[in-house]
Parts: sequence; structure tokens; C-alpha cells
Amino acid sequence: MIFEQIATGGCRSYLVGCEETCAAAVIDPEVSQVDRYLALAARDGLRIRYVIDTHTHADHFSASRPLARQAGATVVMHRETTAPTVEMRVDDGDMVVLGKLRLQVLHTPGHTRDSMCLQVEDRVFTGDALLIGGTGRTDLPSGDAGALYDSLFGKLLRLDGATRVFPAHEYKGREHTTIAQELASNPRLQVADRAAFISLMGSLNLQMPTHITEALRTNLSGGKTVAQMLAEAAASVPFMSMAHLRERIERGDTELVVLDVRERDAWTAAHIPGARLLPRGQLELRVNDELPDPTRHIVTCCEFGRISTLAAATLREMGFQRAVALDGGVKAWRDAGYPLASASPQQP
Ligand SMILES: [Fe+2]
Repeated sequence: MIFEQIATGGCRSYLVGCEETCAAAVIDPEVSQVDRYLALAARDGLRIRYVIDTHTHADHFSASRPLARQAGATVVMHRETTAPTVEMRVDDGDMVVLGKLRLQVLHTPGHTRDSMCLQVEDRVFTGDALLIGGTGRTDLPSGDAGALYDSLFGKLLRLDGATRVFPAHEYKGREHTTIAQELASNPRLQVADRAAFISLMGSLNLQMPTHITEALRTNLSGGKTVAQMLAEAAASVPFMSMAHLRERIERGDTELVVLDVRERDAWTAAHIPGARLLPRGQLELRVNDELPDPTRHIVTCCEFGRISTLAAATLREMGFQRAVALDGGVKAWRDAGYPLASASPQQP
């Protein structure tokens, strides 16, 4: 078995491949690592056939859909998931066949209703059902402490004690543990009975993960995150450096249109000299009047350089083939000590 653990902060994802047939699966991919999974698979001569999420993640952004699209792979989740982008729904006892490898599905609800573990050879991928010295929380949507107790004590912890445990999260840099080690020392498993476990899970008083609404929104719908929208826009437009723009302004370049896409108040207070105001929210409405010549060289700017990237991408989509975005924003321009102009509120 070819095996790779990929750490992204506290998230862990896994590349598992069959040496004989070169078929591979990625388990719990994270959105910032798509190129890494593809590169690791290519390095080992593997073809990614399946992209598997052990459950609907509330705390990070799944890369299952973009990775599967790029690899030509099938997205796999438990049948309880409501994510419409899943192509193969599996149930307890099913196997995902990976060449000579067999990934055995264990439905382990509790952290979420659609949680599952995957066992292959000497190891089990536990998602957030069982962590090293912990368990997944049960207070997020579709979580159920009683169900988690049943999944752990009725199923997962009954695996051979030597089975190696690879969780979807690990915050202390440990690579794996075993079922026996967890049974012996995991504080959450040292409970007298189901009721004690439910009471323990209910007393944890955990903070909500950051990005929970966006993570659930995108993971459940297959929609895009804001970061994805920005990354896609950034990949489709060229950028202009602040130094280059400053130099063009100082030499009195009139060919270049500097388009400030912030709101009027911000533009009035301070803007790059010569910048024209066209707020992002009005871009499509006013573009035909404001920019009648689609061959003009346009550089968009905003406060932080993100909305201007989206604006430049929109302009390019509309046929402004020389639209570029400023590499930076008015804040960075100001921080660099570059010249700024202001206007009285009455001016356009
Ligand atoms: Fe989770």
C-alpha cells in the first residue's frame, strides 16, 4: 500500500494507493492542497480514482469536488449526506475497491449523522469519530453524543487493538495511534456508560469553529468559498505592481485608466492620483457609459486588492481584454508612502 499523510494546520488528509494497479484515493482533502494531492499522486505514479469525505466538515473547506474534477475521480460519501455533489453514496459494510485494496466502510454517526470510518489492512481512517486522545464534538448540526457512544463502543473500538488509527484532525503533531492505546488512555473513553459519555460531551462548552456557516454552506452545496472565488479570479487576470503604476502616474501617462472600485466615501477620502470612481456594486450597470472603449488599458484598485481582482476578472469576462488588477490596494499604497489625492464630496 502506498500511503501518505498530508497535514494542513490541524487537518489531516490521506493519499492511499494500490502498488499493483496504481489506483488511489484521497481521504478528506483540504481545499488549499489540491495541487499537492495531484503532485503526490503523480510522483508515485498513482491515478486518483476516488475522493472520499468521511463526513460533512463544519470546520474546513472540502476539496472533494475540485480535486475530483481535476483528477477525473468519483466523489464518495456516506449515504446520509445531503451534499448534492456526491457521486457514489456508500453504506455500512460497503467496500470501496482500489485495485487490490479494499476500503471497508463503517458507518459511525455521532460527530455528524453522515460520519463514516474507512478500514484498510492494518489501519482505519476515523474521520472525526475518534481522534488521538479525543473524539469529534457532537454539538454541531446533526451531531448526537449517544450515537457517537454507540459508534465508538459498539463498532469502532471493537476493531483489533493493534489497528492503527489515522484521524481527520490532530493538533499536536502526532501521526497516528492505535485502537488499544485509545481505549487505554483517551480521556473521553474512560466513562462508565452511555449516559456518562453523553453528559461528558454535553459539558465540553466548545467554541464554534471559525467559518462554520461558510464551511457548511459550501460543503453541503458544492458551492464556492470566498477564497475560491478570489483564487479563481486571480488565476484569470494579470496584475500590475504598485511601483509600475506609480511610475506611469508620475510620467503623466494618460493611456492607462486607474479604476477605483471602492465605495464613494473611501474614494473621496483618498485615492490613487487620477483614479476614476466606479464602485464594484455598480460596475455592470455603468460600465457601458463609463468605459465605452473595450481596448483601453485598465487597472482596477480597491482597499486591499481583493475586490479589485474580482472586478478585473469581471471586466475581462465582459471583453475588456487589457483589464489588470493592482498587486496591492490603496492601504498598501498608503503604507508604502506613495502619493494620494483626495476630493471634495461633491466631485464625481
Ligand atoms: Fe468534522
